[in-house]
Amino acid sequence: MSRIYNFSAGPAALPEAVLQQVQQEMLEWNGVGASVMEVSHRGKPFMAAAAQAEQDLRDLMGIPDNYKVLFLQGGATAQFSAIPLNLKFLGGKADYAHTGHWSKKAIADAKRFVDVNVVCDTSAEGYKHVPSSSQWNLSDDAAYVHITPNETIAGVEFDWLPDTDKPICADLSSTILSRPIDVSKYGIIYAGAQKNIGPAGLTIVIVRDDLIGNFPADMPRLMDYQVMAESDSMNNTPPTFGWYLAGKVFAWLKENGGVEAVAKVNAAKAEKLYGYIDNSDGFYSNPVAIENRSWMNVPFLLANSELDAAFLEQSHAAGLHALKGHRSVGGMRASIYNAMGMDGIDALVDFMKSFKAANS
Ligand SMILES: Cc1ncc(COP(=O)(O)O)c(C=O)c1O
Repeated sequence: MSRIYNFSAGPAALPEAVLQQVQQEMLEWNGVGASVMEVSHRGKPFMAAAAQAEQDLRDLMGIPDNYKVLFLQGGATAQFSAIPLNLKFLGGKADYAHTGHWSKKAIADAKRFVDVNVVCDTSAEGYKHVPSSSQWNLSDDAAYVHITPNETIAGVEFDWLPDTDKPICADLSSTILSRPIDVSKYGIIYAGAQKNIGPAGLTIVIVRDDLIGNFPADMPRLMDYQVMAESDSMNNTPPTFGWYLAGKVFAWLKENGGVEAVAKVNAAKAEKLYGYIDNSDGFYSNPVAIENRSWMNVPFLLANSELDAAFLEQSHAAGLHALKGHRSVGGMRASIYNAMGMDGIDALVDFMKSFKAANS
């Protein structure tokens, strides 16, 4: 069986070269006579692989020394609670931008622990653009400002940061490592691994030192960044396979020129796909404001939605899988993370052209 072009939003496609390496090491890893999943996380071989993965991520993202990198479980969703709990000590309101499905969820969870101020809300328009920072209702006494720079479902992205001196907490689940960012401008960055990093079950948290150490005594210790930082993310058994595989993806990215190089490819991929959608004489359309179109998640609608089922069936048969849009949006969505090469975009655009020709 040959591999498909996988446009899944997550868990998503992983680099084939990485999967091949993992396959080779499945029975016997690193001279230990067992797979990486079968050995202690406290043994030297795993500790070395874990440290290397962290170093490679630090190199790729230019993470300053005054930030901890945590390899956790619980998904980005656990961070929706961990962030307010860890930062509650700062006092004041917590500012949240409501720009899509995932920020809505983050707000709902944060409200259980802190007084949330929603600085902007595009839910009424169905998440089609992000208002500029000058239009945000930021509070003077905010403990922190939470943003979701790429909303995976609506395909809405913004690459700027709000104008604030408060710690910025960002859910980068679907955009981490897709383009360079200045980590020093953030208080906390977090991301579930299953899009641009590795398998589901691993969550990366990058947190500035001064935001650690004031966790409420009566809350679950596993959410305390201090506990996890002091134990090198090994307070309890970490997700060893995910950590190991993430390390392979980081190494692959470094070998391929790092985040700067992949960002150029990602920009070109997005340009080609949106370019075709915009030039399809209205057969296909993307509803998002041009300046907020996501590089990673490209939703598109067919003018005649009665053709949706045929589009999905025929694209699937052509080896282009997981193109169905999220149920809340409908239509199609192509998720084109780092592991999706330009060949996948070419195959998709070719299919879209021939489907249009057959149905116009
Ligand atoms: C932007 C964003 N945030 C949070 C989540 C939830 O992540 P998890 O399932 O890892 O908790 C997702 C999942 O797709 C996402 O895309």
